[in-house]
Amino acid sequence: MPIMQATDRLIVAIDRSNRDDILRLADALHGAAGVLKIGLQAFVANGPSIVHEVTGRGAKVFLDLKIHDIPNTAKNAVAEASSLGAAMVTVHTAGGEAMLRACAIDSTLILGVTILTSLDDAELQRIGFRGTTLDNAVRLAKLAQQSGLRGVVASPHEVAAIREACGALKLVVPGIRTDGSEAGDQRRTMTPAAAIAAGADYIVVGRPITDASDPRAAALAIVDSFA
Ligand code: C5P
Repeated sequence: MPIMQATDRLIVAIDRSNRDDILRLADALHGAAGVLKIGLQAFVANGPSIVHEVTGRGAKVFLDLKIHDIPNTAKNAVAEASSLGAAMVTVHTAGGEAMLRACAIDSTLILGVTILTSLDDAELQRIGFRGTTLDNAVRLAKLAQQSGLRGVVASPHEVAAIREACGALKLVVPGIRTDGSEAGDQRRTMTPAAAIAAGADYIVVGRPITDASDPRAAALAIVDSFA
């Protein structure tokens, strides 16, 4: 595999509904971020054409649909996402081994979401999980790896433990906040440089870039902070 450039490690979450806003951000971020993430908001508002439009501008697309269903349905949804040209697609590890095995394909990097970065230990207990976010994220990352996935999504606070437990698994890390930026609904955050130092292969940054007055400058400053 070619050596990754610092820019390749930055994934920008384009969480917008309006097509023109999405394409304006995609153009502004061209060459400043390795991957653009189309999530549920952009996909539900615009449909599959938004993936074609963003890849058509030369960007790699991470289609963050967080698929979680019975194995057959999840497998077919992953195949459709892959055929749209998405380079990365997410599925929930809580879908279990059979679902993860059904979704593990070679043509696209399928990422298992461990524990959402918006959840903390107290909320996890209320849902009915036993143990801490750290215990659960490591357990689910191991399940993803044993089920044939090549990568997972986890918070920066779990990266070092997952790296130790799972070796070469690709680690994609949201919950990134620059010093002074608003946490919003994120609970388990870290700066870009700290997340990369902890072992992240990719960091996912949304609002600190997309809400900035100059998103391209914000993206370049973040890349600079860990390059
Ligand atoms: O704006 P912000 O930087 O919080 O955006 C983070 C992005 O990463 C959002 O698009 C969110 O859906 C996504 N994400 C997350 N936690 C996960 C998986 C994905 O925050 N575990």
